[in-house]
Amino acid sequence: MCTASDSYLAQVGQPPVLAARAPGRVEFIGNHTDYNGGLVLGAAVDRYLSVALGPGREPGVRVRSVDHGLPVSFAPGAVPSGSWAAYPAGVVAVLAERTDIPPCELVFASDLPVGAGLSSSAAIETATACALDAWLGLGMSRADLARACRRAENEHVGVPCGILDQAVVTFGRQGHLVRVDAAAEVFETIPVPGETRLWIFDSGVRHRLTDGHYAARHRECGEAFAVLSADRRDLPGLAHIDPDAVEAARGRLSDAAWRRARHVTTEHRRVQNVIRLLGLGRLKEAGAELFASHRSSRDDFANSTPELDLLVDRLSQEPSVFGARLTGGGFGGAVLAWTDPSFGVREADAVCRLFETRYGRRPSVLACRASDGVGLVS
Ligand code: GLA
Repeated sequence: MCTASDSYLAQVGQPPVLAARAPGRVEFIGNHTDYNGGLVLGAAVDRYLSVALGPGREPGVRVRSVDHGLPVSFAPGAVPSGSWAAYPAGVVAVLAERTDIPPCELVFASDLPVGAGLSSSAAIETATACALDAWLGLGMSRADLARACRRAENEHVGVPCGILDQAVVTFGRQGHLVRVDAAAEVFETIPVPGETRLWIFDSGVRHRLTDGHYAARHRECGEAFAVLSADRRDLPGLAHIDPDAVEAARGRLSDAAWRRARHVTTEHRRVQNVIRLLGLGRLKEAGAELFASHRSSRDDFANSTPELDLLVDRLSQEPSVFGARLTGGGFGGAVLAWTDPSFGVREADAVCRLFETRYGRRPSVLACRASDGVGLVS
């Protein structure tokens, strides 16, 4: 891959002042719990997007990518719609509230597949924020950086996402999962015991969080919470409702809202179970919770696809797979398989062959490790 700094030199004609690099992320477990005030576990993974930055000659901010052709220019605070540039422009707009953004050039390079469930969007946002923070000496804490990037996506890109992606990409640590408490905005890392591996099977069905499905789920969860929290104003979100209370409320909610609530409340319990089981080194049982998470996404949250279901089903037949589930927003994208080291290329190939028999094409496969989060590169 051509690095962002090489590309900057080639395109701008002088070396950049600095460069930052952000990883992809997987959602380990906690599907759609974040904007419902719940817990999520994720991991930063060793596929990266990098950005090189330097002063601009023209007023405004100019961004280009090695892959996306022509540069895009905008004034700080303005956000070009319908373009990948909305992500860096959203971050610039949020940071412009606290400081003047001088003219600058940003050049991006990436080996993160877009739309495959690895959150290339959070990588663009956090790499941009990290580079600007260092260049302008803003002294942002990591939590501050994750929050600013989430705001960029909510307010300027228009996706009502939670803080999972931005927090995991910011707080990632080699060999660790990031535990996100979305309501309290507390971010911690917990070790992944043993020699485990994270495999990504990209179904090739492209999802875009901006296409309305995500927002529809967000709305349905809000509807359920309004009914279920009528006498519990202290609760921070749907994830904190007792699953038994959801069962009891079946007649008071639309079928869709009731199912979304059942998914979110049981998913929050599954995240808590996984944290406990990992602490005890009971990996098989923790993995069983990942399979249960997938079934709940498929049946109650209705954000799986036949392609993702086939992958999870086939992976569940492999003894070296602890657990597998759709990862991220859903409606396409990728499946995460959490495996022991004996799962290798041969086993992955058997999964791909079955997929190919059914769909006439192969999923792309990435073997990843839990990695460090966003940072400057020399
Ligand atoms: C996307 C969003 C996250 C989270 C997941 C689903 O990745 O960006 O905030 O809601 O979907 O858990």
